[in-house]
Amino acid sequence: MTALTALTALTATLTTPPLAPLLARLFEEASRTSPVTNPEVADLVRDRERLMRSKSDYRDFYGRLKDFPLAVSRETGTLIYMLARSSGARSIVEFGTSFGISTLHLAAALRDNGGGRLITSEFEPSKVARARENLKAAGLLDLVDTREGDALQTLRSDLPDTIDFLLLDGAKALYSDILSLVEDRLEPGALIVADNADYCPEYLARVRSVANGYLSTPFAEDVELSFRLA
Ligand SMILES: C[S@@+](CC[C@H](N)C(=O)[O-])C[C@H]1O[C@@H](n2cnc3c(N)ncnc32)[C@H](O)[C@@H]1O
Repeated sequence: MTALTALTALTATLTTPPLAPLLARLFEEASRTSPVTNPEVADLVRDRERLMRSKSDYRDFYGRLKDFPLAVSRETGTLIYMLARSSGARSIVEFGTSFGISTLHLAAALRDNGGGRLITSEFEPSKVARARENLKAAGLLDLVDTREGDALQTLRSDLPDTIDFLLLDGAKALYSDILSLVEDRLEPGALIVADNADYCPEYLARVRSVANGYLSTPFAEDVELSFRLA
């Protein structure tokens, strides 16, 4: 096998139809529909710094943003695929589904790892429906359990015994609370990617302490990458 065919075999689901053109379209739509330039949510954008840190206003904040994808960047998408793929993850939990762009990357990694289960959580019903449509179009729906409702409730029970990979991309202020729900199931060596974790100092203080059982480092522009020690 040449190096090129080996690479193609490794990245088959992410880089080939139906997923590759679907992601190209979804990222293109996401880049056209930023809340930052939308006058209907100008008040939210103005108050963004406070709202992103709030543990009480997140339901209203994200409810008003229900028509926006708010997706991870292309770079973060590729990163989570590579991390889940190279770590051989079979059991993944995601906080914050939205239209399913990050979910598609993680489900593709599961497919290429030989299968597994991805539990993802989203409280906006219209977003859950869109994410399911996208997963169906990509042929990845069978790998994903989409839990509708507040993740503080939906990730409280019926979790797999072990979790290899956690993506945190819902309300930033809840990152530490969500970690607490799944922590005792994280395998040693499990990876956690937290998008825009700077909005949650409580979370960063927790995962940046070896005494708490993590190695952690800021990675790329917006990501905190953490590793479960024990
Ligand atoms: C930044 S977006 C997620 C983007 C998604 N990961 C992607 O890359 O396509 C955050 C999403 O989390 C959802 N969300 C925020 N807090 C939540 C909570 N407590 N429970 C469930 N969903 C939540 C919001 O409705 C929003 O759709």
